[in-house]
Amino acid sequence: MNTRWIALPALLGALTVQAADDEILRLTQASGCVACHQTEPSRTAGSPPPLAPAWRDIATRYKSVKGAQQQLTATVMTGSLPADQGRSPYASHWTGKVQGEFMPTHRHAVTQADAARIVAWILALEPLK
Ligand code: HEC
Repeated sequence: MNTRWIALPALLGALTVQAADDEILRLTQASGCVACHQTEPSRTAGSPPPLAPAWRDIATRYKSVKGAQQQLTATVMTGSLPADQGRSPYASHWTGKVQGEFMPTHRHAVTQADAARIVAWILALEPLK
C-alpha cells in the first residue's frame, strides 16, 4: 500500500476546518465584529486592555456554561446593555478586563442565523488552560 495516501483523510479534515475558519472570518469582518474583537488575547505585559473580550477568552469563560450558545447569540442580537441602564450603573463579568463598557446591538449587522454560526465557532475554540 502506498503510504502517501494514509495522510489524505487528515489533510482533507484540516482543509475543511480551514474553509470553515475562513468563512467565519469573512462573516465577522462583514458584520463588524473584528472592529472590537480579536481571536487571541494579547500576551504583551503592560498592554492596555482590549476593546472587547478575545474570542478565545469568551470560549474559555463559557466552556462549561449550559445554554451558552443561545444566551450569547441573543446577546449579539440585542447587545449586552440591560434595559435598566441609566437607573443603575452597568457592570458585567468583563468589566475591568476590556475597555468597552457594553456591546451595542448587532441586529442590523448580522442575521440571527449567522450570529448563531459565529457563536458556535467561538465556543468550539480550544479554551485557555
Ligand atoms: C463596538 C464594539 C463591539 C463590536 C462591533 C462587537 N462587540 Fe461583542 N462585545 C463588545 C464588548 C465591549 C463586550 C463585553 C460586553 C459586556 O461586558 O457587557 C462584548 C462581548 C461579546 C460576547 C460575550 C458576551 C457575554 O455575555 O459574555 C460575544 C459572544 C460577542 N461580544 C460577540 C460579538 C459578535 C459575534 C460581534 C459581531 C456580530 C460582536 N461581538 C461585535 C464589543 C463589541
